[in-house]
Amino acid sequence: MSARSKFNLANDFDTEDTVNKFIQTRPSGLIDIQARVIIDQLKQLRKTDHKSGCLLDVGCGNGEITRLLAKNFHHTIGVDPSFPMISKAIGPDTKCPEIEFKVTQAEELPIEDNSVDVITGISMLNYVDLQAFIPECKRVLKSGGVALFYRDQISKMLSAEDDSLPVIDAPVKLMIKRLLENAREMSHSSYHTHDLHQIQFDGINWINKSRIVNEIEFAHPSLSTLGSWYRFYSHLPFYEKVAESGVNPAAELVQSVKENWSMQDRDPDDIKIKAVYKTVMILLQ
Ligand SMILES: C[S@@+](CC[C@H](N)C(=O)[O-])C[C@H]1O[C@@H](n2cnc3c(N)ncnc32)[C@H](O)[C@@H]1O
Repeated sequence: MSARSKFNLANDFDTEDTVNKFIQTRPSGLIDIQARVIIDQLKQLRKTDHKSGCLLDVGCGNGEITRLLAKNFHHTIGVDPSFPMISKAIGPDTKCPEIEFKVTQAEELPIEDNSVDVITGISMLNYVDLQAFIPECKRVLKSGGVALFYRDQISKMLSAEDDSLPVIDAPVKLMIKRLLENAREMSHSSYHTHDLHQIQFDGINWINKSRIVNEIEFAHPSLSTLGSWYRFYSHLPFYEKVAESGVNPAAELVQSVKENWSMQDRDPDDIKIKAVYKTVMILLQ
């Protein structure tokens, strides 16, 4: 159950089941990388290494990244409209006195005017009504404050065994496209995640805005083989529904990689790979 959005946007994360799947399938190494990219960028923008100010993390989910970001701030507020997400964030195992978690949506923030130094939003911008959310950012940010919206997406796979093997590029993009097209049909009409926030960026009315796209190589023990990537994708919360519609994009990707690397006879759990992620940050200052 979640706070009902008066903006009538569907939230994929409003049941215990989808939230559990989201938390269980997400690789912890990725969370650390996301937090590091954001913290580095904020340090540059704020020109300080010291713990200071107030952070508002909007669409904070179960608060895992919020807690990592919070180490750089005196006070942190995490908000999310999903009760199951916020109850994980404040659950008994995750007590964190300097962070306040609230069930609320981005479009109507229960936060005082001019009270926040930094707003972050991670993998959430596609869910919100920008026409309502952006004025809320303007209202709650202190003068000189900054808002940073982040998301990432796998863009390539490389062999971790043999540098001469071709980079797997188009099949990865095709899989993401098919996953998101199918997921989008199950969600509201602004679920354009495959564009790495380009549509949202274009739609934001803010004088000093920038969009930074980078690539990072991602190697993590729990996602080091083709088999582990297959399990990661095929356990995504919405994958069952994607598969019901007759497509199996993760299995197709495994097939493409094996063909491209002439490894048809190998077990996917024995094929070692590295992933390249495209990251995008939208900065509003
Ligand atoms: C992909 S999850 C990301 C969660 C978290 N930022 C992270 O990276 O771990 C997207 C989050 O956006 C939240 N969300 C959906 N609609 C929202 C809205 N209108 N306002 C704020 N958050 C929203 C969902 O409940 C979910 O927790």
